[in-house]
Amino acid sequence: MSTDEPEKSALSTSNEDDLTCRSRFLTKPENVFAHNAWDDVIWDEEMIEAAEKSIEQNSTLKMDEKEAEKVLSDASSNWDKFYGIHENKFFKDRNWLLKEFPELEGIVDGKECEKFRVLETGCGVGNTVFPLMQYIESSRDFFVYGCDFSPSAIELTHQNALYDSSRCKTFTWDLTNVDNDARLPFEENSLDVILMIFVLSAIRPTSFKSVISNLTRFLKPGGLLMFRDYGKYDLAQLRFKQGRCIEQSFYCRGDGTQVYFFTQSELHDLFTECGLEKVQNLIDRRLQVNRGKQLKMYRVWIQCKYRKK
Ligand SMILES: C[S@@+](CC[C@H](N)C(=O)[O-])C[C@H]1O[C@@H](n2cnc3c(N)ncnc32)[C@H](O)[C@@H]1O
Repeated sequence: MSTDEPEKSALSTSNEDDLTCRSRFLTKPENVFAHNAWDDVIWDEEMIEAAEKSIEQNSTLKMDEKEAEKVLSDASSNWDKFYGIHENKFFKDRNWLLKEFPELEGIVDGKECEKFRVLETGCGVGNTVFPLMQYIESSRDFFVYGCDFSPSAIELTHQNALYDSSRCKTFTWDLTNVDNDARLPFEENSLDVILMIFVLSAIRPTSFKSVISNLTRFLKPGGLLMFRDYGKYDLAQLRFKQGRCIEQSFYCRGDGTQVYFFTQSELHDLFTECGLEKVQNLIDRRLQVNRGKQLKMYRVWIQCKYRKK
């Protein structure tokens, strides 16, 4: 199987991201194969040069324009097929959520917020929605919304034994459809947190701004947009073969789903232009190793928290 095929690239990026904790650092290079992962790895000039070279190689020859238009217009049905095949067995639960995003507990100045509303965008089969509901005590007025443009994914969330309509609601919504708010189950200025976990990367870059500014309308003043997604030079980007690049930093996987690789500065510009202010914008560079095969895999993710003014 080629390494840019969806099964492999998506699996290696999403599931292993589960290990997030940023607590183990490689101080002696000779120990690299002593553990499965190392945090906050420093990239030297040589590594950056090699990554740039791989990107140049895989992005000079672009995907055929007609084919690209087709996969872009079929984005929702391609994700739907993905969930039809993998159901809820593909992505692992995001069990690191509260470690990286403790704000999700809805505790301000040591006190529990009386009413807390969270929206998970691109929720898939609920790998964020359900862990969140399990972490938060059911006695609290805490409600989680989840939306996705794949009807199959949403149907799977409804079939999940943990689905509790008094504490959550998942529904189909295409985030790029910004003129279709009437049927949304929440009002403008009503959400405490909007989560974007590996979802903006699946959307075509020309829609980034309209998606973020539309979502911002639903955040309360002071509410947080919390984001985690692929960073430039991530292994998944460097592995793409020629002819899969649609435009700069934006690629199509073998199953027709797409993926964008972000830089910190473009995300900062995007969020601030949409009326949000920075709380956090960090790059998470991890070295994962396959000890059996003595392989080193450099992962890059970006994590942001931006507040509505
Ligand atoms: C990589 S998955 C991440 C799923 C989930 N957030 C998680 O962390 O496990 C990306 C999800 O975004 C959804 N998605 C992509 N584009 C979307 C759009 N325009 N509107 C709504 N959902 C979208 C896909 O259907 C898919 O479920």
